Amino acid sequence: MRRIDKILEYIAEKTKGFPEEALLQCEGITAAEIAANQNMLRNNVSKELNELLRADRIIKIKGRPVKFLHKQTIEEMFRVHLKEKQIEVNSLGEILQTGEREDPFYSLIGFKGSMRNQVEQGKAAILYPPRGLHTLIVGQTGVGKTMFAKLMYNYGKHMKRFTEQAPFIVFNCADYYNNPQLLLSHIFGHVKGAFTGADQEKQGLVEKADGGILFLDEIHRLPPEGQEMIFYFMDTHTYNKLGESERKRSANVLLVAATTEDPGSSMLKTFIRRIPITINIPPFQERMPSEQLHILKHLLESEALRVNKPIRVDPEVAKALIGSVTYGNIGQLNRISSSFAPRDFWTASARIRKISDWTSKCCRATSGKGCSTLARAAGKAKNWDPFRPSCTSLPKEAMPWKKMCLSRRSTSTS
Ligand SMILES: Nc1ncnc2c1ncn2[C@@H]1O[C@H](COP(=O)(O)OP(=O)(O)O)[C@@H](O)[C@H]1O
Ligand SMILES: [Mg+2]
Repeated sequence: MRRIDKILEYIAEKTKGFPEEALLQCEGITAAEIAANQNMLRNNVSKELNELLRADRIIKIKGRPVKFLHKQTIEEMFRVHLKEKQIEVNSLGEILQTGEREDPFYSLIGFKGSMRNQVEQGKAAILYPPRGLHTLIVGQTGVGKTMFAKLMYNYGKHMKRFTEQAPFIVFNCADYYNNPQLLLSHIFGHVKGAFTGADQEKQGLVEKADGGILFLDEIHRLPPEGQEMIFYFMDTHTYNKLGESERKRSANVLLVAATTEDPGSSMLKTFIRRIPITINIPPFQERMPSEQLHILKHLLESEALRVNKPIRVDPEVAKALIGSVTYGNIGQLNRISSSFAPRDFWTASARIRKISDWTSKCCRATSGKGCSTLARAAGKAKNWDPFRPSCTSLPKEAMPWKKMCLSRRSTSTS
């Protein structure tokens, strides 16, 4: 490996190891540290650092001593896009405030990592002229399909593809699975007398979603009849309510569907062919270790905000939690993290024992990479509680971090 690459890799690893609040308090990696750890001459290290700064791979924190951070890691950790090149600042807080955070997809962990292609597809689906492209999102339960669909919608508003009032209508096709008539009437509406019990005309979801997105969850549960009605609608943007013979109604709706099944075997071929974009969301285990840890941290932070108490997690517990996610299921991790939250702090052994029934298999498994982040966060957070709004000892530099936690919370709960 070239010297410059070794240095960059070292900076990336170390940057990932710092808790966010430490980064905001001007933590970073010095040239002297790199030289000592990598057995290199200080002069050579400085030369390569200048080169890396010119190539826009690192951020320089001015001061004595000068410190460096890995740019992409910072963007991923704080979920911002730093447009500026060759960044030299007095503190990270400075640049994070100006960073572009409006793009809703930046709140997705891994937007520049293992979700990069998916984000590009999601954006293309929204922007494709003239009305966007209908999209199918495929992935196991709890990998973030619903969240992704919501982000597509937010992105559509952000890009003025939808108005601020545009609807985002969610329907789970499993809801009326046993009653196709009711299911279709729910989606398309019905006229009076369409079937026994239809004593009033009813608006369907397609009409409600006009000008926005209709999110059809578990689309594989849609009966063939429904799939056919939907694909006519996709083709022509016209439909009829149940009980009407002519298709004379129209609505401008972007369909986003989600399924946990293999679309090839669970749905009509004709239907699948009509959906131009398929986005596969990878399961939790296929994300990079740094992203797995980030997701865990994010869920714990949201929970800490919800219960208004700091949560500290022992690295062994973090490992166990990450290892416990056996089916690629972030939703499961979320439930586990929230079941822990009301307790403030546990000793490692007690914690491990408490969760041993579901983690005994997993404790041994995970790589452990990145767990030092949580350990350090746990140690350093002792003196002040970033989640307590009235906390007077909150350092000024920590404010952007806190704001971010709050905004993340609103994305994850909306
Ligand atoms: N990349 C991610 N970044 C942040 N949170 C995520 C991510 N992926 C999933 N989540 C969280 O995981 C949980 C489950 O996601 P959800 O969209 O309900 O999954 P699905 O619809 O696939 O079952 C939610 O709390 C969501 O906020
Ligand atoms: Mg879902």
